[in-house]
Amino acid sequence: MEKIKIEKNSVQETLIIPLYGRKMCSEKFPELYTDIYAERLCNRIDYDFSELEKKNKSFLYEFGSLEAAMRQLDMIWEIKDYLKKYPKATVVNLGCGLDDTGKACDNGLCHIVNVDFPDVISIRKQLIIDGEREKNIACDLKDYSWMEQVDGSEGVIFFAAGVFHYFKTEEVKNLVLELSKRFPEGCLVFDSVGKLGLKIILNKVLKNMDINDVDGYFYINNPKKELNWSENIKVTSKGYMLGYYDMKSPGIRFSHRFFAWLGDKMMKMYVHKMEFAGKE
Ligand SMILES: C[S@@+](CC[C@H](N)C(=O)[O-])C[C@H]1O[C@@H](n2cnc3c(N)ncnc32)[C@H](O)[C@@H]1O
Repeated sequence: MEKIKIEKNSVQETLIIPLYGRKMCSEKFPELYTDIYAERLCNRIDYDFSELEKKNKSFLYEFGSLEAAMRQLDMIWEIKDYLKKYPKATVVNLGCGLDDTGKACDNGLCHIVNVDFPDVISIRKQLIIDGEREKNIACDLKDYSWMEQVDGSEGVIFFAAGVFHYFKTEEVKNLVLELSKRFPEGCLVFDSVGKLGLKIILNKVLKNMDINDVDGYFYINNPKKELNWSENIKVTSKGYMLGYYDMKSPGIRFSHRFFAWLGDKMMKMYVHKMEFAGKE
């Protein structure tokens, strides 16, 4: 079967890390997390996984795979919770990469929309078959015309997993305010890290992009103060690693949970839920 190529050193390449993390976590900690798509997708991509494979056994990479899985579990928790109230809502995966969280939350009634750059959507279309209530939108999230293609009449939940690290703070804020105006019943869920965490991510992931100074990029040290963008938006923030689940699963050691605690506290890893409350 023909393999699909992913170019190195691009923002799009960043989709590989969480995808590989989910595959690795499914193999190592299946009681905690399973992703039936991740392994199949990794096998279909023409990408040099050797660097990742080499580090596969190191503690830090093992922990990285837990990060990818916990983030997805947190998002799934919030989406399923929203769908209890709005079962026919639209579930929108912002910067979807090759993630299939929408399908993992499908209740048979909701609609699923996946948004990413055109080249990523074209790769996605070759690898993933859309469900009957699912569609893809190829665009830059910063060009708000994509919002016209989202039906929020039965409720809408947007989620962005590992996406806003590559945005400037003003860009995230403007996007959020625009969403809150257009989708007054909507909700947005996304992850963030603090300044130190962002330095590590950007230098590790975007090696060629020369980001030494992360000022201006989106990091959050104090959610209550820094996400206070509108009185029409209610913000709830929880620990990314341990805010939703206690990670007490077979194979998860004390050291994993200790690192998870450190990640939440020291790296300030959070998952935020923003509930929009009516037009301004
Ligand atoms: C780290 S990957 C995460 C992918 C996916 N959310 C996951 O958890 O596997 C970041 C994704 O965001 C997309 N992305 C980043 N900036 C974007 C933008 N301005 N418009 C659309 N997609 C964007 C990238 O193409 C990439 O697929």
